[in-house]
Amino acid sequence: MSPDLTERPRCDQTAAWAALQTHFYGQGRDFDLRKAFATDPGRFAAFSLEAPHVFADLSKNLIDGETRALLAALARECRVEQHRDAMFAGEAINTTEQRAVMHFLLRNPAVAHTGWTQSASKTVADAWPEVLATRQAMLAYAEAVRADDAITDVVNIGIGGSDLGPQMAVRALAEFVLPGKRFHFVSNVDGHELDAVLKQVRPHSTLFLIASKTFTTIETMTNAHSARRWFEAQGGRDVPRHFAALTTHVAAAAEFGIQTTFGFWDWVGGRYSLWSAIGLPLAIAIGAQRFEELLAGAHAMDLHFAQAPIEANLPVQLGLLDVWYRNFHGLASRCIAPYHSALQRLPAYLQQLEMESNGKRVDLSGDALEQQTAPVLWGEPGTNGQHAYFQMLHQGVDVVPVEFVAVRRAAHALPGHQTLLLANALAQAQALMQGRADAGGHRDFPGNRPSTFLLLDALTPASLGALLALQEHRVFVSGSLWGLNSFDQWGVELGKVLAKDIAQRLDSGDASGLDGSTAGLLQRLR
Ligand code: F6P
Repeated sequence: MSPDLTERPRCDQTAAWAALQTHFYGQGRDFDLRKAFATDPGRFAAFSLEAPHVFADLSKNLIDGETRALLAALARECRVEQHRDAMFAGEAINTTEQRAVMHFLLRNPAVAHTGWTQSASKTVADAWPEVLATRQAMLAYAEAVRADDAITDVVNIGIGGSDLGPQMAVRALAEFVLPGKRFHFVSNVDGHELDAVLKQVRPHSTLFLIASKTFTTIETMTNAHSARRWFEAQGGRDVPRHFAALTTHVAAAAEFGIQTTFGFWDWVGGRYSLWSAIGLPLAIAIGAQRFEELLAGAHAMDLHFAQAPIEANLPVQLGLLDVWYRNFHGLASRCIAPYHSALQRLPAYLQQLEMESNGKRVDLSGDALEQQTAPVLWGEPGTNGQHAYFQMLHQGVDVVPVEFVAVRRAAHALPGHQTLLLANALAQAQALMQGRADAGGHRDFPGNRPSTFLLLDALTPASLGALLALQEHRVFVSGSLWGLNSFDQWGVELGKVLAKDIAQRLDSGDASGLDGSTAGLLQRLR
């Protein structure tokens, strides 16, 4: 990475940060949304943004014009735009692994009028032919599987980024899924999960996709070996026809006995890999053309992120709000509330994106940070969440910014439902903001609770692609401001190492050298 970028100032040591602190203690912390709307009839227009496929109402956030200007100054002083440009230029911004971060290239249009291959970067241009060739091969395979009536079940075996993206997207785009094929996702090493799927399928009509960037992840390898043992025990013979691999480790897949492998590259992080071969189950489900629409929607958001000025740049504005809430208001979590039942797995997908990317406590040089980083992300589809935890959102002690994701047009024709669903989303956002002070005691609501309202016109491959790219880039922005490497995940390693040791001890009963609690539990488990 260019020295210019490694020497970016830490955000909490900038003049803009100090100015934000003064602003927060002066007026920011007492900001009242109700007064802001009462005194400014133009607030909705002033604080809403139009990005590709996504309209965002930011007006119910705890900011005024001054907050927004100071946050923009913070982004400029921390050189977020230069950092972003370095990513789009293919620089090795994943410094702990010495890798470029180029998942955006996976979304580049095949006929590249507006794409990244027009850029001057040799790294990006050099990577492109292989990206395109792999995409074309994978989509051709997807079409062949779609046309193959003998295959009725597709079982994706993968975990983390090799599961959450395709699983979430296959559910989100259920309306477009090919009838006559069922899609299953097995991630957990808990054998109950694989067992339940195997009970529903037959070897001669099942395609297993072994999805693992590294092809070493213990959960995935254990499930993959069990699936193959089951396949052979049930009389399945043609492993090459019934198993395919999605991985950067092509040799390991071959060793497993798999002949059909779609590769990707070390510059694609697991949680950013839906757009690569990891998207194959989705491509089989919705077809090549719709998969390309998903990529096009994400690409449109990439261009918006790369080109829109800070004030009109939706990912930048969302990332800045995340910093405002986390570091100035001290809010420790964010609730994501999708008002579309097909977006059921979106919160789980975003959990990995946010918390595996930005759940870190040291900066790029490994020095401890003094400010907080990633919030806890959580949520469930509305209106279900309303009858579970919205009580806490409205009347609990902690303030939690809520991000509503609503879809204007429904994909069904049942009368009345969509109106009620959208009314509920609006009512919740309104109630959080307005509160209620006239009912007394237990019935009062404090109000002034912030929310963002993201609105899609319809849930389509293109709008889903744009929504997900938006989320990726907002995580980039907050991670950049916090001075993190958002693209490594060392924090998952220790548990993996310990689990291997404990698995052996569970077999042998050897508890020597273990702490008292682990030793005690180990003995009870044997
Ligand atoms: O949980 C850690 C992690 O490395 C994630 O980043 C990744 O998405 C997941 O494991 C699965 O890894 P792989 O695709 O290599 O099996």
